[in-house]
Amino acid sequence: MEVQGHFITFEGGEGAGKTTVIELVKERLTSIGHSVLVTREPGGIQIAEKIRQVILDPAHTEMEERTEALLYAAARRQHLIQKVIPALKQNQIVLCDRFIDSSLAYQGYARGIGMEEVYNINQFAIAGCMPALTLFFDIAPEKGLQRIHNNEAREKNRLDLETLSFHEKVYEGYQMLLEQYPKRIQQVNADQSLEEVLEETCNYIISYLNKGGGLR
Ligand code: TMP
Repeated sequence: MEVQGHFITFEGGEGAGKTTVIELVKERLTSIGHSVLVTREPGGIQIAEKIRQVILDPAHTEMEERTEALLYAAARRQHLIQKVIPALKQNQIVLCDRFIDSSLAYQGYARGIGMEEVYNINQFAIAGCMPALTLFFDIAPEKGLQRIHNNEAREKNRLDLETLSFHEKVYEGYQMLLEQYPKRIQQVNADQSLEEVLEETCNYIISYLNKGGGLR
């Protein structure tokens, strides 16, 4: 599935701040004349938001890890077909909060299914439609978790309730992905002020756009 346009994904552990930054990046890019769509996974459209509720419901403690991986992949496909690809076809910049790398780090590595197996079921879902640029928001898992626990307004989901050692494995999984995809995945230091994180993120995106989106 070859698509035009600029598909950019935001990745990281819990409390890395990517959801806040993504909206500010949209404002910045829009102000310089780009047409931008912000969306998220799992979710972004009705069917995928419903799958999200099933996956993240803290009551679903019996969910088996492959079931979890398949549900993320199913939500991913529907969201890609119904929202991401149509926007890319209209030449929009799509900023997506999480995509395949989340499944590789969380289900593949931290849950222990294996990155390759999870990659394979995801290829069935995305049929080669990979992001051109991925920004990994780097923060120590302990700090990230501290941030979300201090944020009373944030609803705690089933994965937030996992142990620190699970989130440390997620972090390790992302480190492996950084090594595997050094061109596609760029690392943003998320342990700085919001202004600094925004600046670093925009610099990567603007330099990618100036190169004509040639990072792949
Ligand atoms: P969010 O908190 O960024 O909205 O993401 C919801 C949770 O789902 C978060 O704990 C990360 C997790 N997740 C996976 O485990 N695998 C995936 O493929 C995706 C997209 C998210």
